[in-house]
Amino acid sequence: MTGLVVAMDGPSGSGKSSVSRGVARALGVRYLDTGAMYRAMTWWMLQQGVDLADPAAIAARCAEPRIESGTDPDGSAIHVDGVDVAGPIRQADVTGAVSAVSAVPEVRARLVALQREIIGGGDIVVEGRDIGTVVWPSATLKVYLTASAEARARRRSAEVTGSTVEAQQAAMATRDKLDSTRKADPLSVADGAIELDTTELTLEEVIAEVLRLVAKRRSSE
Ligand code: DC
Repeated sequence: MTGLVVAMDGPSGSGKSSVSRGVARALGVRYLDTGAMYRAMTWWMLQQGVDLADPAAIAARCAEPRIESGTDPDGSAIHVDGVDVAGPIRQADVTGAVSAVSAVPEVRARLVALQREIIGGGDIVVEGRDIGTVVWPSATLKVYLTASAEARARRRSAEVTGSTVEAQQAAMATRDKLDSTRKADPLSVADGAIELDTTELTLEEVIAEVLRLVAKRRSSE
C-alpha cells in the first residue's frame, strides 16, 4: 500500500489519537502524533526558562532542540535531545503552555518540515490540527473528527486523574479557541475533508468508518 497518507484533524478530545492508532494498526501502517511534537517543543522551552509570553523569544530558540518522534501505533516514543519525554509532555504545565508555543510561525515551520520528512513516502496515519490543510494537502483521505464539547470533556477527564468534566470542558474551550483563532495555520476543516461527528459513536464504529472511507478512496484511485 505505497503512498497511503491518512490526515486526521480535529479538536482535542474528538478521539483523534485512539482512532488514528486503531486505523494504523488495522492497515499495518505507521502513525504520527504531531501534537506530541508541539508538546515536546513546549517541554524544552519550559526547561530552558524561555519566556512563553514572548513569541520572539520562542522563535529565536525553536531551531535548537532535536525532536525525534516514533511512528509505532502501539508506542508513543518521543525524545528531545535524546531524553524520553513521553510522560512529561502530558503533564499540566506543558498542556497549559502548548497553545502559546504552537502559535509561533517559526515553530510551525520547523515542525511541519520535520513532519513532512517523517511522512516521506507515506504508509502512515497522521493526526493533528493542520495535516490536511498544511502538512499534507494531497493526503489520500482527510478526516475531520468532531464531537460535542461535553463528550470531548468527558473523554478527556476520564484520561486525566482528579479532574472534573466541568474543569476539563473549560480548559479545552480555552485551548480550542486559541488553536482555532491563531494567525498561523489555525484549526480548520481542509478542502475535501470528510467530517465525522463521533459523539454518538463507539471507538470501533469510528475506526470501521474510517477504514471504509480509505478502501473507497483507494478503489477510486
Ligand atoms: O493533540 P494535542 O492536544 O496533543 O496537541 C497539543 C497542542 O498542539 C494543541 O493545543 C494544538 C497544537 N497542535 C497544533 O497546533 N498543530 C498540530 N498539527 C498538532 C497540535
